[in-house]
Amino acid sequence: MEEWVNLSTKKFDVYYSSFNGLTEEQQNNFKIKKDHSIRVAETALQLAERLDLGEKDKSLAFFIGLFHDIGRFKQLVEYNTFDDSKSVDHADYSLQVLKDGTFFDLLDEKQTELAMFAIANHNKRNLPKGMSEEEILFAKIIRDADKLDILKVLTDYYSNPRARANHTLTWEMPTGTAVSKDVWKEVVKGSLVSKEKVESQLDIKVMQLSWVYDINFKSSFEVVMKNRFLEKIYNSMPKNDKVIEIYRTIKVYAENKFLG
Ligand SMILES: [Fe+2]
Repeated sequence: MEEWVNLSTKKFDVYYSSFNGLTEEQQNNFKIKKDHSIRVAETALQLAERLDLGEKDKSLAFFIGLFHDIGRFKQLVEYNTFDDSKSVDHADYSLQVLKDGTFFDLLDEKQTELAMFAIANHNKRNLPKGMSEEEILFAKIIRDADKLDILKVLTDYYSNPRARANHTLTWEMPTGTAVSKDVWKEVVKGSLVSKEKVESQLDIKVMQLSWVYDINFKSSFEVVMKNRFLEKIYNSMPKNDKVIEIYRTIKVYAENKFLG
């Protein structure tokens, strides 16, 4: 496994270093995405271990984690944004970069198909119907690993009052004091809050809490509980009846998943 990890990380680094003449801001954003990719790869590998998968499947989980966002670099250079709605779908872009390069040389044909499906669907609201169990498995692993890392990054940010405002975390929206009605409706009925309904930074936090509805594995819930991600988000929110109701709903759901 260690050798395989080194081999794929080397391929990542070669690609990453092929970009020249970046501004300081671009270099910063590159580093943020690189660190994210490496942590997600490690988390995906850990989830695969907890699921008792074999060596080959563990390597694949690591590969998918490492390369799921590989299109982010080209996206930033060509469009100067990470906002997919203003540029391209970054998952599709990742697939394109992978196909144009030699990355899939690390995988056999079957693994390549599983990786393509998982990466293409890591950022979609729902997984398509009618897929095989294996396809669904690796897609679920990357979706959990990605969410767990984003939860880590944003709860670090929310817990640190001196942190510099990061536009990728606030979307440059107003702070907000009341949860929007549509956002509230979605979260209390147990569904993921859609990005389109979000109107303030408070709504963003509610949306992030609602991600628990899209977490798949018990070991992922263990990470959520151990790191107190939900409390940390809640602690950063203004307290009113709706916020308290939302937090209780989410917390009960997550505790049941964790224990069940
Ligand atoms: Fe992504």
